[in-house]
Formats: sequence, structure tokens, C-alpha cells
Amino acid sequence: MKSKVVLLGPPGCGKGTQAEKLGDELGYVKLSTGDMLREAVRNGTELGMKAKTYMDSGALVPNDLIIGLMKEKIAGLDRIILDGFPRTIEQADALAEQIDIDVAVNIDVDDAELVKRLTQRRSCPDCNAVYHLANKPPAKEGVCDKCGGKLYQRDDDKEETVRNRLEVYRKNTFPLIDYYEKRGKLVTVPGVGSIDEIYAKVRKALE
Ligand code: AP5
Repeated sequence: MKSKVVLLGPPGCGKGTQAEKLGDELGYVKLSTGDMLREAVRNGTELGMKAKTYMDSGALVPNDLIIGLMKEKIAGLDRIILDGFPRTIEQADALAEQIDIDVAVNIDVDDAELVKRLTQRRSCPDCNAVYHLANKPPAKEGVCDKCGGKLYQRDDDKEETVRNRLEVYRKNTFPLIDYYEKRGKLVTVPGVGSIDEIYAKVRKALE
């Protein structure tokens, strides 16, 4: 099994969902920049206060805030799934200076499906588990199956912000597909199908 893995793909393609399953079933440590930033915002830390305006509008948080944070988190870890990082060429270069990643799995989903997924997503603020009102509802409405946390809708999952996030993705993050392809690290997985079907494909890409 590959041990240093990047999950790539547009907002809502299923990076968080697949990272959670890989963590639960295969013991990878999941490092999600989105989860870390949302926690910083909730806790009112300096990082959270700086990041909030960018996140609310669907823009990327500046590289200098993210790169240092991720360097610290990655240090010393062996089996990792990076969810939401890198997001720019500058972040990818900084990552490459620190570790040699084994594979970048790109989850490919079209925009219409992404909008449906994000606008009906519900998230747990306590354990970061992810649900969907139609595709992956919790057993009890509004309550996290894993930890009992109260599910909420992310502020950036409103349709207008989702569309801006998709633009930001195209401009800043899409070029990473080419970046990893040129380095022989890219595997693209079609991201439409059941969560378990996509998981089987992602898992295969890690073998
Ligand atoms: P972040 O939290 O990373 O958001 P994102 O990349 O936009 O990704 P999402 O979490 O929205 O989607 P996902 O691909 O994880 O999909 P999920 O599994 O939840 O970042 C948020 C913000 O933080 C950014 O906008 C930026 O401001 C900032 N930020 C973060 N990282 C940064 C960085 N490196 N640099 C700068 N700024 C950064 O699935 C979505 C929904 O679909 C769920 O409801 C799920 O249940 C459902 N679903 C999943 N799979 C399937 C399936 N196969 N079929 C049907 N439904 C499915």
C-alpha cells in the first residue's frame, strides 16, 4: 500500500468522505486543511480569524498561512492522506521539499453533481464526519452517527459560494493535475457512483 497520498479534485468530489474511510479502514492519518481551518475559526484562534473572510467567500486562504501549518502536521508521520492540500503549485512545491508523495488520486466529478452534493451536505463539527441528506443520511436526523454531534450546514455550502469555490478550484488547483501527471504520480478515478464503489477504486489506486 502506498503510504503518502494526496487526494485531489474539486470541492464536493468526495475527498473528505474517502479520506475518512481510508482512515477508519486502513489506519491512514487524515490531514484535512479544511477541517483544521474550520476548527481554528470555531476556536477563535489568530489563524482562524485571518482565515475566516477568505473561507466565507470561497477564496483560498493565503499560502503562507497554510504551508507552515501543514509542515508541522506532516512532520514525522508515515501513513498519511492529505485532503485539501496542496491546493496551489506553490503549496505542491513546498510539500515536495518536505516529503516525496507516492500518489495523487484525482477524483473526477462534473459541476452539476458537485453543486447537488455540496448544497445537501451536512457535517459534524466534533469529529468532522460528512453526511448527505439524500446519499448518506445519518441514522437519526441532525445527529452524527459516529459521535452524537449536532450536524450543521457549512457556511460555504450555499449555492453562490459553491459556484465561486468551483471557479477558484479551476484557476488555482486544477493545474495540479498536470503537475502530478508530469511527475508520474497521478491516478484519476471517476467520482460518480456509490461511495463504496468510489472507495474500491481509490483503494486500488493505493495498491
Ligand atoms: P475544504 O474543506 O478543503 O473544502 P473543499 O476542497 O472545497 O472540499 P469539500 O470539503 O467541500 O468537499 P470534499 O471533496 O471533501 O467532499 P465531501 O467528501 O465532503 O476547504 C474549505 C475552505 O478552506 C476553502 O474554500 C479554502 O478557503 C480553505 N482551504 C482549505 N484548504 C486550503 C488550502 N490548502 N489552501 C488554501 N485554502 C484552503 O463530499 C461532499 C458531499 O457529497 C457530502 O455530502 C458527501 O456525503 C457526498 N458524497 C461524497 N461522495 C459521494 C458519492 N460517491 N455519491 C454521492 N454523494 C457523495
